[in-house]
Amino acid sequence: MKYLSRYADFAALKTPCLVVGIYEGRRTDAAFDVLDEASSGELRKILRKGDIQGNAGDNLLLYGLPGIAASRILLLGLGKKKDFGPRQFAQAIAPVVPLLEQGNMGQIAVILPETGDYYGMVREGLLAFDAGVYRFDQCKSEIEPPKRPLRQVSFLTHDRRHLRRMEKACVQGHAIASGSALARDLANLPGNICTPTYLAQEARKLGRGNRKLKISVLEEKDMQKLGMGALLSVSRGSRQPAKLIVLEYKGGKAGSKPIALVGKGLTFDAGGISIKPAAAMDEMKYDMCGGASVFGAIAACAELELPLNVVGVVPSSENLPDGDANKPGDIVTSMSGQTIEILNTDAEGRLILCDALTYTERFDPAAVIDIATLTGACIVALGNQASGLLGNDDRLADEITTAGTSSNDRVWRLPLWDEYQEQLKSNFADMANIGGRGAGTITAACFLARFTKKFKWAHLDIAGTAWVSGEKKGATGRPVPLLVQFLLKRAGVAD
Ligand code: BES
Ligand code: MN
Ligand code: ZN
Repeated sequence: MKYLSRYADFAALKTPCLVVGIYEGRRTDAAFDVLDEASSGELRKILRKGDIQGNAGDNLLLYGLPGIAASRILLLGLGKKKDFGPRQFAQAIAPVVPLLEQGNMGQIAVILPETGDYYGMVREGLLAFDAGVYRFDQCKSEIEPPKRPLRQVSFLTHDRRHLRRMEKACVQGHAIASGSALARDLANLPGNICTPTYLAQEARKLGRGNRKLKISVLEEKDMQKLGMGALLSVSRGSRQPAKLIVLEYKGGKAGSKPIALVGKGLTFDAGGISIKPAAAMDEMKYDMCGGASVFGAIAACAELELPLNVVGVVPSSENLPDGDANKPGDIVTSMSGQTIEILNTDAEGRLILCDALTYTERFDPAAVIDIATLTGACIVALGNQASGLLGNDDRLADEITTAGTSSNDRVWRLPLWDEYQEQLKSNFADMANIGGRGAGTITAACFLARFTKKFKWAHLDIAGTAWVSGEKKGATGRPVPLLVQFLLKRAGVAD
């Protein structure tokens, strides 16, 4: 999809559809009055009839208004004017995308609500449209595309002074949208197609033809040499060989320390010998969403040519039951030298991540963020709205929290107090891989914390945010928006 920012005389603009917002209680912006005047009061007359109140997602499609060059006007409910912002704008757009897509329009123009945040409005609006038109039909043999699909969305202002920031929002928004779509595609692919080997190939594909991207893949024999006993113990239970995928984006000065993004790339998690129940087990193909978000964020860096060094590290494996799989009680030695008693083979994410985190030390990173669908407990704690955030550096955590809020991809911090470490005690090894019933998200992070002492580190548990279940089952692309926002800020090019 193409996204543009344009200056326009709203009433005179020829477009198949002009989208105009209405707030709750039928409150309007000045743009509405401009159109109303051009239509000699017809528009407000329609509004007075009361068919649309302006509640978020309400909509009313109008045809052939006198004095207005657009062939259709879509009145779009925006919700309460008092709390209106980019997030609310995105929420208002989401439900009308199917209508606009099926409406045989080809292109539309959207008048920006007058909140003052022109960058945020355009960017979140763009992302709402892009998420709305996203389809995953690679595995369907027959697809029926709309007759005249939506190809272009223009965001309109009547004040040229806003254009520069609106255009910046289009460029940065587009990169976030592409990165999210890449993450969603990789995640939605089933486990029999998207294997660790497939992910490694996709990484190489991403690197092809881009001199700022360097891709390398560690094979199991390389991991063996490095002593990655924790990671390899997980992949031993699978016929697919594990891969450690490294994506280096070199957009910054040669010597400047990179930001490291470490993403869990479990292409299917059956639980291993501690096997999961059958219900919804298909969704464990999404256990590589952390890794997919690293691909998406790196792709966005490359698209924007950010002046920054970023390294993505994606440990990738399957977790299956097998005669050679981990057994409860097994003890393995991680690359750090610390030993781990595996009391539950379904707590495998931390086993592959701990070795990837130790490996990340060699990049001397300025900060490390790991991203993982790590614990079901995170869904119990935070549901599907916020990703869990934990870490060993308050400033980094605050930076990530702010990035999440301003990219409409929110996180909520949980404590990582030393007292919780007690729960990981093992009678036979340096630590156990599970911490008992309480605080599952925290004890998982406590485990990782034992491998991140040498750098500033934050952990994102995306178990509740990376995909949606049910009728609309599919990957969300989160937390690509948050990661890119964080990187834009670090690169000094955020709005
Ligand atoms: N990938 C799962 C976590 C998960 C489960 C994410 C459901 C999203 C939805 C992870 O590998 C796992 O199985 N974690 C266990 C840990 C437990 C054994 C300590 C869990 O959450 O049950
Ligand atoms: Mn598991
Ligand atoms: Zn898992």
